[in-house]
Amino acid sequence: MKYIFVLILAKIILGLSDHISTHSNKAYEKNGVHSVPLGSESTFYWRTDYTSESVTIEVHFVAEESSWFAVGFSNYGEFKHADYCVLWIDWHRHMQLQDAWADEDGELNLDQQQDCESFDWKQRDNITKFTFSRKFDTCDNHDYIIERGTTHIVWLKGQGPLSSLAGLRVSDAKSSGMSRTELLRTSHPAPEWPSDAWELELLVNRIKVPNRETTYWCRVHKLPDSLKQKHHILQFGPAIQTGNEHLVHHMEIFHCAGLANIQVPHYNGPCDAADRPEGTQICKKVLAAWAMGADAFVYPKETGLPIGGTNFNRYVMLEVHYNNPELQDGNIDSSGIRFVLTKSLRRYDAGVIELGLEYTDKMAIPPNQESFTLSGHCISECTGVGLPQSGIHIFGSQLHTHLTGKRVVTRHIRDGKELPLLNYDNHYSTHFQEIRLLPKPVTVLPGDALITTCTYDTKNRKNVTLGGFAISDEMCVNYIHYYPNTRLEVCKSAISNDALRTYFRYMRDWENQPTSNEAISANYNGIEWTKVRVAALHDLYEAAPLGMQCNASDGSRLPGLWENVAASPVSLPLSPPARDCTDFTKNGLESE
Ligand SMILES: *[C@@H]1O[C@H](CO)[C@@H](O)[C@H](O)[C@H]1NC(C)=O
Ligand SMILES: *[C@@H]1O[C@H](CO)[C@@H](O)[C@H](O)[C@H]1NC(C)=O
Ligand SMILES: *[C@@H]1O[C@H](CO)[C@@H](O)[C@H](O)[C@H]1NC(C)=O
Repeated sequence: MKYIFVLILAKIILGLSDHISTHSNKAYEKNGVHSVPLGSESTFYWRTDYTSESVTIEVHFVAEESSWFAVGFSNYGEFKHADYCVLWIDWHRHMQLQDAWADEDGELNLDQQQDCESFDWKQRDNITKFTFSRKFDTCDNHDYIIERGTTHIVWLKGQGPLSSLAGLRVSDAKSSGMSRTELLRTSHPAPEWPSDAWELELLVNRIKVPNRETTYWCRVHKLPDSLKQKHHILQFGPAIQTGNEHLVHHMEIFHCAGLANIQVPHYNGPCDAADRPEGTQICKKVLAAWAMGADAFVYPKETGLPIGGTNFNRYVMLEVHYNNPELQDGNIDSSGIRFVLTKSLRRYDAGVIELGLEYTDKMAIPPNQESFTLSGHCISECTGVGLPQSGIHIFGSQLHTHLTGKRVVTRHIRDGKELPLLNYDNHYSTHFQEIRLLPKPVTVLPGDALITTCTYDTKNRKNVTLGGFAISDEMCVNYIHYYPNTRLEVCKSAISNDALRTYFRYMRDWENQPTSNEAISANYNGIEWTKVRVAALHDLYEAAPLGMQCNASDGSRLPGLWENVAASPVSLPLSPPARDCTDFTKNGLESE
């Protein structure tokens, strides 16, 4: 069965033209084949088979004579401690693909259990294409488990021929790189547009992409007059200039939310420029977000995201993040986001609710922590007043932290019983933020509770990291996309003010810490973070009463008591996902 599957992919892609620039890949997406660039000279294609729980992968790369090419997975993009399938050619010009893992020193070791299956390859001129399949979970302890959320794909290319793989080092590669993608994404049937649907492209205009690694470019657009009438967004997706697929890292469209008659300066320049007008700062309500490796986001057929209308400010800002690690010079770019819009409104307006932690310094992460967690609660009292009787249907989710976030999960609780996870990303990266479609919509009823937990790595920080807006502060947010639109827009928490005051008083009186300041930040900054104090802070956050933000979209609080409230209890937590690794002979081999 799997064999046939590979042949199909092999035919579709291996049979294609020999040009590497196959990025305008709409046809591929239709066949369930997705792609992400690996640097400027290679592309990673894949298709997922949920029945056999495996991914069929195909890599195209520009090869010098007898190059070897390793492609693999690692937790956060590191080359060491990674799991590879390595294509290499021996002195008899025999091409092979082997399963290997890199140890702490970056040395490749062959796996006793070989899991890069159904290998095939083809070479024409200087392009080499190879395909193989890989189970999500191979049950080999040296192999990466492919799961939902972000996958970091690492690749290495070096000079061959080789006499053996063993002993090869990551540092032997002549070039290397890392790309992030959502490997196990949900493919959806191509939707049908109403006859009046039209496309709107919001692009930058011939930007000279600087020869530095990171550039954020901002351009304000005014939406056309036709959007004086309310429309629905049915889809948004990338409109990338051909040839720049490896440069455009992520893009967002921000609505300049304000009164309909507010004028926003037509800024067009680096987002962090000193002369960026103050008036553009209101452009921060996310309308669309795309990241490299993602497909277009398609709204479910019942719903569309409202845009336009008489009370709608028609200014938006496009932000393009260019990632140029090869420091290429002279690239000109006119990429952006393409919307599909209609004035034939669908049955339901889509909406967005913010879950997680309030943007406040009431919560903090001590320095030098490998895995510190903070949780933001949307308690059942808030969904009780905020959601319609029949509930809401969540179809998309955008997880968000700043630089130290490495894992995000939102749990879903009904009457004390935990339901399947609403969304999670065990390999989260702040550099790969997109709005993701859930595998299937999740219905949340009034009275349900949602707990969003973020895990942070502050190993590189000397000072405490506070909650807040600055990029050096932290956030823990899940923007859930749902229908039908309802009043509730913010359902977030922080530790209650009383509990925090009591904690600082305790630190002063019993731990002799300088925590009698007015400002919360000064108190957190004054604490000397010993192991015991870190553990105590974590326990405090887990147990203390909450201050809730249960707000409507007009910024007002929904009726209720929101200060000093308890988190909704979880009496029946979900058990961890079961692995299907019953083949003890294989496991036995591994544990030798
Ligand atoms: C590969 O071949 C194409 C066409 O023959 C050529 O334009 C290109 O420069 C070659 N690339 C490399 C890296 O040799
Ligand atoms: C850490 O805090 C100290 C004292 O508040 C401050 O002087 C220093 O600049 C901070 N370091 C960093 C890296 O923020
Ligand atoms: C929620 O509403 C209150 C009262 O209007 C306001 O003070 C607070 O800033 C709001 N919170 C958020 C996150 O919008």
